[in-house]
Amino acid sequence: MSYNFFDLTGQVAVVTGASRGLGQYFSRALGRAGAKLIITSRKAGDCDLFLQELSDLGIEAKALTLNVREKDSISAFASAAEAAYGKIDILVNNAGCNIRKPAFEVTWEDWNTILDTNLRGPFFVAQAIAQNMAQRGYGRIINIGSVTSVFGYSGLSPYGASRGGIRQLTMSLADDWGKYGITVNVLAPGWFRTEQNKVMYEDETWVEYLKERIPLNRPGKPDDLDGAIVFLASEASRYMTGQILLVDGGITVGRTRATVNK
Ligand SMILES: NC(=O)c1ccc[n+]([C@@H]2O[C@H](COP(=O)([O-])OP(=O)(O)OC[C@H]3O[C@@H](n4cnc5c(N)ncnc54)[C@H](OP(=O)(O)O)[C@@H]3O)[C@@H](O)[C@H]2O)c1
Repeated sequence: MSYNFFDLTGQVAVVTGASRGLGQYFSRALGRAGAKLIITSRKAGDCDLFLQELSDLGIEAKALTLNVREKDSISAFASAAEAAYGKIDILVNNAGCNIRKPAFEVTWEDWNTILDTNLRGPFFVAQAIAQNMAQRGYGRIINIGSVTSVFGYSGLSPYGASRGGIRQLTMSLADDWGKYGITVNVLAPGWFRTEQNKVMYEDETWVEYLKERIPLNRPGKPDDLDGAIVFLASEASRYMTGQILLVDGGITVGRTRATVNK
């Protein structure tokens, strides 16, 4: 019988921000690999339809309320999540937000909203969940980054700061928690159409502009991330920590021609 490096049977995975968007794709992929799921939204009831879909797929899941911008919400969530199945093996820090604006127009409140949600939140969620992982000597933490973790983009200053920060945070946590058997990595998607950015994809000129910059010549489809999330959650990535895995169709190669031909 062959050994399946990617099998997550018997494992419990938390995916934050799974009421829509990429969090649902991550949940399906981890569930199909065998994990039981704990999914979250600021209103757990907003996951009801998705819970039904998971159940129809034969995936066991529970939904909990979590607002990553609120300290008390994080601690209440962490206790409820540990109690849900008695342990947590995998944490996907996916909940996030974005506000696209030229840098001169960014307000104090915009900055706080983005950094509190995308950087402070994932840190304190990881800290709360990793306590028990450390006691059990095993954990996989996957922080969702972005191509803005490594590249600069106009219109995304606070978002880029939060995603660059998540990469640095990941390296520091990997160093801190490696001794407890916990790996911490970043999965960094390129440009994927979701609720958060659908307005941009309605502009065909912008989509053509984007495609021109992607060597694989198309924006990502959310299930393009399935293999990477299961890899980082599984035995297959056991000797990898503190790293960033970019799944971006190649956009971060830079795509600047050094010859006149196309
Ligand atoms: N789409 C892309 O192309 C792309 C590329 C790179 C990285 N990312 C990152 O991937 C993650 C998911 O993106 P997405 O496009 O799927 O976004 P999305 O469709 O807007 O979904 C965001 C999720 O985060 C949750 N959320 C938002 N604020 C929250 C808060 N304060 N506390 C707890 N949960 C909160 C939302 O749940 P509720 O509103 O129900 O609470 C929702 O489930 C984000 O971190 C994003 O930055 C996306």
